[in-house]
Amino acid sequence: MACSNADSNILTALASQLRLSATLEINELIQRRVANGHKVVHLGFGEATFPIQPNVVAAHRQASDITSYLPVAGLMKLREVCIVAMAKHFVCKSIANFQSRRLNYTISPHQVIVAPGSKPLLFALLDILQGDVLLPRPSWVSYEPQILHASKRVFWVETDEVDRHTITESSLEMAFQRGVSEGGNPQVMLINSPSNPTGQAFNHHNIDTITNFCQRHNITLISDEIYSDISFSKEYSATPCSGSKFNDNRKILTGGLSKVNSFLGRDWQRWCMSNKIIDLFCRGLENRLCDFP
Ligand SMILES: Cc1ncc(COP(=O)(O)O)c(C=O)c1O
Repeated sequence: MACSNADSNILTALASQLRLSATLEINELIQRRVANGHKVVHLGFGEATFPIQPNVVAAHRQASDITSYLPVAGLMKLREVCIVAMAKHFVCKSIANFQSRRLNYTISPHQVIVAPGSKPLLFALLDILQGDVLLPRPSWVSYEPQILHASKRVFWVETDEVDRHTITESSLEMAFQRGVSEGGNPQVMLINSPSNPTGQAFNHHNIDTITNFCQRHNITLISDEIYSDISFSKEYSATPCSGSKFNDNRKILTGGLSKVNSFLGRDWQRWCMSNKIIDLFCRGLENRLCDFP
């Protein structure tokens, strides 16, 4: 739903172009059709439908009367201690430990940021990072409006269903060169594996292609791995953030509990950042946004 003429007189040009998120729009349409008695096969909104763990709900309930402003990067206790699924049980583990084990590299709690949802963090991040953004097409529908909202340009990295939407060196170079020739300044790339909407997941070769490209052009790489904990293939679970290269380069790993733990709508997101970015990000958050849980 675009805004009316009257609204556009009081909104910035950017805000008056904003539309309802495509996923939320289709969700609302479907709810209306179901309420009117239609049978609908819902392929719009990707929500985890299994029940949330009772001990997670209990912990949440217990903390609901705590009302105070909190540290910008999240409570240190929360950055250190988070509930994750281990085999059949939920146990308390540090976010930093969890990612250290996953990435095979030591991540300190100071490199972890916690927030209620990916969107506010992505807003804050795009707000402080220099340059325009390279984005694979197709991508999760919320990335593009968020990038435009941060007054950045999007340069699409084209992919093809013929090779299951693999990001190739030539598609990366083409997007970069197009950005430069159109007067842009591509300095950020946002990737997502396993991908919403294609389901494509990266192997080591794909990751090498992307990270070598980013290094060559001095590009900050944001890797949205929110679906990684439900990817069970060793071959297709590669991340650009593993090993010592995580801290050497400008990398940001994003993930969360919403998809894998059915913690939708009130979730904590766990983000890890290389040392070079974390201080900058916290300052950005503090000055431009708000404090999180
Ligand atoms: C690729 C991707 N990243 C992030 C999100 C947002 O997740 P959350 O708001 O639970 O952090 C979604 C939600 O659909 C998604 O598909």
